[in-house]
Amino acid sequence: MSKAARERLNALRADYDPRDEDRHTGEDRDSYTDVPGGIRLQKALAAAGVASRRASEEMIAAGRVSVDGQTVRRFGARVDPETSEIRVDGMRVVTAPDKLYFALNKPRGVVSTMWDPEGRPTLADYTGQTEERIFHVGRLDTETEGLILLTNDGDLANRLTHPRYKVVKTYVAKVPGPVPHGVAREIRKGVELDDGPVEVDSFRVVDNDAPKAMVEIRLHEGRKHIVRRLMEAVGHPVSDLARTQVGPIDLNALKLGTMRTLTSREVSELYEAAGL
Ligand code: URA
Repeated sequence: MSKAARERLNALRADYDPRDEDRHTGEDRDSYTDVPGGIRLQKALAAAGVASRRASEEMIAAGRVSVDGQTVRRFGARVDPETSEIRVDGMRVVTAPDKLYFALNKPRGVVSTMWDPEGRPTLADYTGQTEERIFHVGRLDTETEGLILLTNDGDLANRLTHPRYKVVKTYVAKVPGPVPHGVAREIRKGVELDDGPVEVDSFRVVDNDAPKAMVEIRLHEGRKHIVRRLMEAVGHPVSDLARTQVGPIDLNALKLGTMRTLTSREVSELYEAAGL
């Protein structure tokens, strides 16, 4: 853990507030066992950016918060923000102060690594210095632009890239148009490539102009050059390719070549999409 994250954790532990004392909400006491030396649940929720401390207390009172599988109704319950599994409405909340999550809009011409022996531009040129070492979640071709997630959360990263967890990635591709209905049907049915069939989650033609059409492909697998190979196989080779979404995270208005921190809500949604 970096010095800054350690300091944040210590500040959380030291920050005494008499409102945190062991009160309960009028409901029967819960059977959750406090973590000795832990911090108050509402403080952990507030520090993670879920809601203000007051709003977090309301969530606790409403029975919406669980810790390690137990619904907690006391405001004073003590948790370990690094290891306790905290959920709001069943969705995981990451309270560990050293976990980092970012979205980057990768430009074309940038390799999907943090360092390149050939000296080409890399993701590290866009991430700058982060307080913990982060790594990219999967790859895009050098010539593909769009959304790449970066994190130091290995469990989440593995699940987001493994086809078993069926996290859908959305791509927009420019191809020779128009794209006939028969081709769209063929893609939806499943196209056979050299290394096996491609199962798309959805395919739609966004613009069917000649000579260039725009198509949207949603897939939960990440074989190399998969979108380019798929479109080539049906006679519509890709000239421009962008990834616009990974699971619930949308590129939205993120400018090309910039990075932003994911919100606590977005991290919870990623956890849910990855079945965590
Ligand atoms: N499919 C491709 O062909 N290229 C990418 O970069 C991503 C998916």
